[in-house]
Amino acid sequence: MKNVFLYLLVVVTIIALYGVAYAGMPEEPAGKKLFIDSKCNMCHGIQSAAIETKSKKKDIPDLSGVGSHRKADFLKKYLLKQEKVNDKNHPTNFKGSDADLTKLVEWLGTLKEAKK
Ligand code: HEC
Repeated sequence: MKNVFLYLLVVVTIIALYGVAYAGMPEEPAGKKLFIDSKCNMCHGIQSAAIETKSKKKDIPDLSGVGSHRKADFLKKYLLKQEKVNDKNHPTNFKGSDADLTKLVEWLGTLKEAKK
């Protein structure tokens, strides 16, 4: 009987330790996941968020510090082609839901500088 109790104690301790390990892991921001899921990284890299671009073109901006010169509201319109940058529309139109676009641009708005 004592052995069963000890066994249970060990199992419970292991489960508790897993819980602590999970809680300690930094969660990926929803916007970052949306950025990848929306295939924005086909063109853009974000060095500060450790996202590599899949594009070989040099004229596509890295978005590491985009939040320091663009507001989330503006980006939302820009990605729906309702606003222009340098007199040009963004090459792609955001296809997902409005709620997802909001999460995405809010995350972009938090990107203030390029981390080295
Ligand atoms: C087909 C390639 C391509 C894809 C896919 C793409 N972009 Fe872009 N994006 C560009 C190019 C090129 C520019 C620069 C346009 C210009 O300066 O006229 C740009 C500009 C931007 C800018 C403005 C940067 C600044 O500093 O003003 C943001 C923000 C942006 N893109 C976000 C996104 C997001 C979010 C996605 C995914 C939903 C995405 N892009 C998908 C090519 C792309």
